[in-house]
Amino acid sequence: MASYLLSIDQGTTSSRAILFDREFRPVAMSQQELVQSFPADGWVEHDPQSIWESVLFICRDVLRKGNVRATDLAGIGITNQRESTLVWDRATGTPIHPVIVWQDRRTVQQCEKLNDAGYAEDVQARTGLLIDPYFSATKLAWILDEVPGARECAERGELAFGTIDTFLIWRLTGGKQHLTDATNASRTLLFNIHTQAWDERLLELFNIPAALLPEVKDSSDDFGLAEAALLGSEVPIAGVAGDQHAALVGQACFEPGMAKSTYGTGCFMMLNTGEKAVVSNNRLLTTLAYRLNGRPTYAIEGSIFVAGATVQWLRDGLQLFKDVAETERLAHETRAGHSVYLVPAFTGLGAPHWDPRARGAIFGLTRDTGIAEIVAAGLQSVCFQSRDLHVCMGQDMAQGQGRLRVDGGMVCNSWLMQFLADMLGQEVDRPVVLETTALGAAYLAALRVGWYRSLDELVALWQCERTFTPSMASAERESLYDGWQNAVRRVKSDLG
Ligand code: G3P
Repeated sequence: MASYLLSIDQGTTSSRAILFDREFRPVAMSQQELVQSFPADGWVEHDPQSIWESVLFICRDVLRKGNVRATDLAGIGITNQRESTLVWDRATGTPIHPVIVWQDRRTVQQCEKLNDAGYAEDVQARTGLLIDPYFSATKLAWILDEVPGARECAERGELAFGTIDTFLIWRLTGGKQHLTDATNASRTLLFNIHTQAWDERLLELFNIPAALLPEVKDSSDDFGLAEAALLGSEVPIAGVAGDQHAALVGQACFEPGMAKSTYGTGCFMMLNTGEKAVVSNNRLLTTLAYRLNGRPTYAIEGSIFVAGATVQWLRDGLQLFKDVAETERLAHETRAGHSVYLVPAFTGLGAPHWDPRARGAIFGLTRDTGIAEIVAAGLQSVCFQSRDLHVCMGQDMAQGQGRLRVDGGMVCNSWLMQFLADMLGQEVDRPVVLETTALGAAYLAALRVGWYRSLDELVALWQCERTFTPSMASAERESLYDGWQNAVRRVKSDLG
């Protein structure tokens, strides 16, 4: 009997594959880093072929490590960096341009024009999103406009558009399936989250030929069969969701009012709002939590572009330490009352500022500022930004917020989690299984292959490893946060 699920998590900085057994215990893991390319100020690209090769490598590697054959797999779940945009030739499967990554800001001007022309309100009403370079639509239009002949080919139906999930499904099924799921579609700026369909008005506004688009499926659905030639036997692709949506599922946030925050490359706080698509008055996003049996569950999301990437920059760019694990010790060594603020607006500011022209800065340096203070400021910036989102969510939701479930690579750092609880003034729960993104994709696949009948049956699997309780005096908390808001004001452009 097939007793494992293979979860593929294609993230911004790495591709990971995890094998889960029937109790959803991770039995083997494989990971490969991805090369980041920064061809111009604010541009971020990935090589599509490297993404594909890394995914194939980790899938084969994890099967080998787990001593599991493809015939032992009940299904595959895919979760992915969202919004990142790709176009390929339907006949050859060859991409016509590198992936334009979600962090890429090259379409700032196009977005400004549309905002100035007054389209923001209508676009938000249809998509739940803001007009910002972060999302796929203007990236896709850029590829069609800049690659010679692309627009004509697209109009003739010769090209396919996809976010990373779509590209992987295409490659895994040998070009037989051109599909996405509703959560990934909800990040393109082309998908109407109320009608659950590609929106003709938006296709016209962003000048996108409909012939490019994939079919949109539920998050737990039939996405075709991965070819036998790849893994040794055909395997059904049964669950697909954008990584933040998968993390919400992996954290078992199935009830309205439940929230999670994932600390990966960026930080994404998402709160389940149930059947209701709540419109934010604070520049947060309305998005799909997941779609099952054709029924959408909605969420409100705060997206910040740089969280773990700050630590990566402190390590690789400034070379302040060798191993990320050292940051916890360094933070403990920080001089009390240090006044350093690091605003990591490397690729602009996301929610709630949405200022693509802002750039990063470090403030408050004194003669005795050392590595520890700068590292602590980098970690603290993640918590201050979380508080920015948390405040907005509190204002958007009528009822109070419950506890926050956290996940992602950074949450192993207990100093950081304590500072987060202090900054939010709220309890923060860290689960036993931190691989919630991959776990969520496995849950979605499990539903499709019949291991479970509903998400409710999965609630009992969530276990808390540690709760962080706020202990900072409120005067100190507010004074630190005031300092942060002041620092952010100083990096903003006129747009934010
Ligand atoms: O929206 C971008 C997001 O999906 C990327 O996630 O985990 O790669 O930072 P991550």
